[in-house]
Amino acid sequence: MAKDYCVLGIESSCDETGVALVQVQGKALPLLLADALYSQIEMHQAYGGVVPELASRDHIRRVLPLTEQVLAASGRTLADVDVVAFTRGPGLAGALLVGAGVACALAAALGKPVLGMHHLEGHLLSPFLSADPPEFPFVALLVSGGHTQLMRVDGVGRYELLGETIDDAAGEAFDKSAKLLGLGYPGGPALSKLAEQGDAAAFKLPRPLLKSGNLDFSFAGLKTAVMVQAKKLALVAGVAVEALPVQVLADLAASTQAAIVEVLVKKSLTALNQTGLNRLVVAGGVGANRSLRAQLNAACAQRGVRVHYPELHLCTDNGAMIAMAAAMRLQSGQQAATEVYAFDVRPRWPLANLPVAS
Ligand code: KG4
Ligand code: ZN
Repeated sequence: MAKDYCVLGIESSCDETGVALVQVQGKALPLLLADALYSQIEMHQAYGGVVPELASRDHIRRVLPLTEQVLAASGRTLADVDVVAFTRGPGLAGALLVGAGVACALAAALGKPVLGMHHLEGHLLSPFLSADPPEFPFVALLVSGGHTQLMRVDGVGRYELLGETIDDAAGEAFDKSAKLLGLGYPGGPALSKLAEQGDAAAFKLPRPLLKSGNLDFSFAGLKTAVMVQAKKLALVAGVAVEALPVQVLADLAASTQAAIVEVLVKKSLTALNQTGLNRLVVAGGVGANRSLRAQLNAACAQRGVRVHYPELHLCTDNGAMIAMAAAMRLQSGQQAATEVYAFDVRPRWPLANLPVAS
């Protein structure tokens, strides 16, 4: 690879189409030149969740205009793209195939190499795009809509799984509880907004596996407890759950959020203790949650632990994290595929099985 080059990143694993261009200069931290995002949230809202076929079709509509937008914003042209990176998995198969197809076609037309990236590696490395980037090694709390994992991260591709959810992810707990309370999709931001007006001590909800002694999580029972509590209140009031007084819904939302956040904070601290590391990176959509950030910051400050987050707008899915992770892999010696443009996607793909880059 030349000393200076540009990497185009394409993300299409779920309900956001993201494209970004980063510049690599030697061993310096890659620089984000431009990024563009189209969120399909409004389209899926009518169905109460992501409809995979509609997601795929919309990625097709958005990906090329977004690419043109990114090139224009960075003052570059396709001729300046040296490597095309795309999300290879995990995610929705049809949605992934759109990004993979476009990336491989572009690369073939330009005579440039491609790199298929792991979506969670993108999230994991996204704090390197922030004004306060971390240094290796660190503990990573990965909290997205589909995953909740604690990892030990010693370098690019050097990921050791310390613990993960045995059922629902933290984001799923937010989303499913929000749906029960009639808050629509996506539930995380809506539930946390309502929780701001509520009393977190109003309802006693379970803290699953809080004292399990290991670093695994379980959130499926919490969602059931929220449902039982909500139905009980609705029965007494003689109304549907969604028609409960706003203050009651806010108290339930705050209590739910408090249960999720307490478990995430406690397990992160245990992971830091177990590994002896004093740096924590939080990544994935739930990392945007204000209460989680406030409580992690307070707990870590007491212990002299530095916490790093991605910029708020880069917590949820985006193209910048894919371009960045690809650039960091290339910097650590990974080769991009130059001749074979046959592509495949991996809807299920464990992060801990990724090869070390160099
Ligand atoms: O990382 P992400 O964009 O997509 C996946 O890779 O899954 O994460 C999406 C998840 C959803 O479950 C969403 O409800 C949650 O992140 N989320 C939040 C907040 N913003 C997004 N959860 C709690 N509080 C938030 N502010
Ligand atoms: Zn994601």
